[in-house]
Amino acid sequence: MTETATSRRRAAFHTLDVAEVRRLTADAIEVTFAVPEALEGEFDYLPGQYVALRKELPDAEGKVQEIRRSYSICAEPTPGEIRVAIKRDLGGIFSTWANEELAAGAKIDVMSPTGAFISKHQMTGLNHPELIDTDTEDTFVAVAAGSGITPVLAIARTVLAANENTRFDLIYANRAAMDVMFLEELADLKDRYPSRFALHHVLSREQRISPLLSGRIDAEKLTALLENVIRTDQVDEWFLCGPFELVQLVRDTLTGKDVDPERVRFELFTTGKPTRPEGHVGRPVQADDDGDNFEIEFRLDGLSGEVKSPVAANETILNAALRVRPDVPFACAGGVCGTCRAKITGGDVKMAENYALEEDEVDSGYILTCQSRPTTDRVSVDFDA
Ligand SMILES: Cc1cc2nc3c(=O)[nH]c(=O)nc-3n(C[C@H](O)[C@H](O)[C@H](O)COP(=O)(O)OP(=O)(O)OC[C@H]3O[C@@H](n4cnc5c(N)ncnc54)[C@H](O)[C@@H]3O)c2cc1C
Ligand code: FES
Repeated sequence: MTETATSRRRAAFHTLDVAEVRRLTADAIEVTFAVPEALEGEFDYLPGQYVALRKELPDAEGKVQEIRRSYSICAEPTPGEIRVAIKRDLGGIFSTWANEELAAGAKIDVMSPTGAFISKHQMTGLNHPELIDTDTEDTFVAVAAGSGITPVLAIARTVLAANENTRFDLIYANRAAMDVMFLEELADLKDRYPSRFALHHVLSREQRISPLLSGRIDAEKLTALLENVIRTDQVDEWFLCGPFELVQLVRDTLTGKDVDPERVRFELFTTGKPTRPEGHVGRPVQADDDGDNFEIEFRLDGLSGEVKSPVAANETILNAALRVRPDVPFACAGGVCGTCRAKITGGDVKMAENYALEEDEVDSGYILTCQSRPTTDRVSVDFDA
């Protein structure tokens, strides 16, 4: 295991070859990137982590922009390759382009894997699942919706293969059978682990034999599922991945059932609010050297940087820092991925949204720079911490 995979390493982009593009559904593809031997250390990962992809594409107005989007890795750790699955988001720039045009042979900038949607149960098996603790009898439950299956599939495959005492229950919500990503792969898992992997497809727009598995998952249906399908009191770890509302509903319901939040991991693909990363130069602001400015100092890759941020601009630390260092890391710019994390070393900030940092990280002074604005005249942050 390399330390970088479990800790939140500072991710960096590398250009990788697309080895294969496989259609999963009418609206989703699986993309396999070939990882050259020299970069295998950089691209080690734990199941549940994601990569960011970077590409210059025209926006809705036809203006070419640098687009960065995150995609969870959908396979168990495998040396020499990275697999992601991209579902077309109606009207979405990157996912539409990928579903329509991405093909084997293309080259794309791929950020080294990162992310904290990983099991706390001895998941030391980076590229070595045999190192996972096999003495315990863990029960995992995942609730996924749509493309939220991608990190869950990687986690399920890894823990089921590594430990024959593990049980994994998956509640997987989709609109209709034809939208289900990885249908065959999930059926294969069921065949391979008939007594340890249970799969509960819930289809919102199709009638299934059980009414419990038909229709949208609302509070009532979720409670019924948790009471009839899952032995909620025996679950060691929960993984939730899907739209904001569903993840929030499951978290709240589990809290209502006295499930320790320490046992619940969740990953959001979007907050539901449109947030637009503004390319690698940051959103432009009117510089005013003589006016009222915040002084922002930062450390990145061992080098110190400094930038003034006009108070009136009300801009984030990330946006200001990007003006002087285009390599400042970010991906979603929406507070969900955690790529822009840094530690406060002086002054103070106010963080708007945080769907990525754990409580102990916030307590230790970490912030999401894409969501943080200075509240003191001088602020120092360390991206290397
Ligand atoms: C950690 C993480 C992991 C992820 N993993 C996956 C994964 O495994 N698979 C996957 O498919 N996705 C995943 N995502 C989501 C992915 O990163 C993208 O957000 C998604 O593919 C949409 O990107 P896009 O460029 O196609 O859409 P965007 O262009 O970003 O648009 C997104 C949506 O917003 C709408 N929209 C755009 N502009 C506006 C506006 N101005 N006002 C209102 N609405 C607007 C669009 O119509 C579209 O529906 C993940 C995200 C995160 C943060
Ligand atoms: S860039 Fe994703 S949380 Fe800041």
